[in-house]
Amino acid sequence: MADLKTTYLGLELKNPLVVSSSPVTNAVEGVVSLAEAGAAAVVVKSIFEEQIRSDIGELYDVLEGETSGVAMEYLQADLPGRMGPEKYLKKIKEMRKRVDIPVIASVNCSKSSAWVDYARKIEDAGADALELNLYQMPIDFSVSSNQIEAESAKLVGEVTAAVGMPVTVKLSRHYTALFHFAQSLEKAGAKGVILFNRFLHADINLDDESIFYSPNYSTPAVFPSQLRWAAVLRDMVSCDIAISGGIHSGDEMAKALLVGANVGYVCSAIIKESEFTVIGRILNTLEEWMDAKGYADIESFRGKLRETDLSDGVGFERSQYVKAATELE
Ligand SMILES: Cc1cc2nc3c(=O)[nH]c(=O)nc-3n(C[C@H](O)[C@H](O)[C@H](O)COP(=O)(O)O)c2cc1C
Repeated sequence: MADLKTTYLGLELKNPLVVSSSPVTNAVEGVVSLAEAGAAAVVVKSIFEEQIRSDIGELYDVLEGETSGVAMEYLQADLPGRMGPEKYLKKIKEMRKRVDIPVIASVNCSKSSAWVDYARKIEDAGADALELNLYQMPIDFSVSSNQIEAESAKLVGEVTAAVGMPVTVKLSRHYTALFHFAQSLEKAGAKGVILFNRFLHADINLDDESIFYSPNYSTPAVFPSQLRWAAVLRDMVSCDIAISGGIHSGDEMAKALLVGANVGYVCSAIIKESEFTVIGRILNTLEEWMDAKGYADIESFRGKLRETDLSDGVGFERSQYVKAATELE
């Protein structure tokens, strides 16, 4: 039987399946069930920077200044449920007591570092690591991408200087120079990067011409983009890499490891099922594949298909694209 153990952010994990930040990791009981179902670690539903910085009244003010009316309505609808820095700490403490797998806290942050002290409280509450979900809408014409990235790296540096627990950063796929940015995060002390965050998408109801937010669950069709970026980034940074997006079966998990990811985050596949049996299915398929290939452990094949030489343009790089495109003609 293949050994599924892996490491992530210096944490020993019994397998590479991490349940990513989402409604299923919001409540203590849910996290207990995920641990029982075989998850190796959980990332708790994010707390928002604004929640940490402000009380509810101040938060409304902040949102009114920065957010469209429709988005404001959406955010307000769930505010009482989302609010509460103290509640979040209590939840982390309780989760830490109830499960024997790592509990990773998550802060959804933009650029303010006013809440960095709160990261220490998260650590004191017993979190095993902290995930920073960097999120900001670049709507200021006068701010360049360089400035945005430098601000983000500075924020990460302030957090890593303030806490002893490992810090990992969840990235959007919209950075122009991902290698450069990932390296600057690593220099700022990040122990890992997650490829990629997926945003809540607004949609339009054509009947009443209103804007609404749909749950936006993934399918495996989105996975190849994560795979490609992990494969080319693997040797560009020495920190850990997690793939998030489109992992619905053991096949995607095996591919994530083959390009050098330490772990695969799973979210939509779990939310879509009422039970958490998909966790066992993903791990069984991975184990069966490893057995069939004769791999005793994950280190025997991790990174085997990562992109080791970006200059020759094979593998996940441009020439593959050119080849595929010309064959289609
Ligand atoms: C309903 C829902 C809520 C989510 N909430 C968060 C969140 O609070 N923080 C976060 O970092 N990611 C959040 N995510 C993103 C997921 O953690 C994950 O990165 C994304 O869904 C891609 O993984 P998947 O293809 O397995 O769903 C959420 C996703 C969904 C579908």
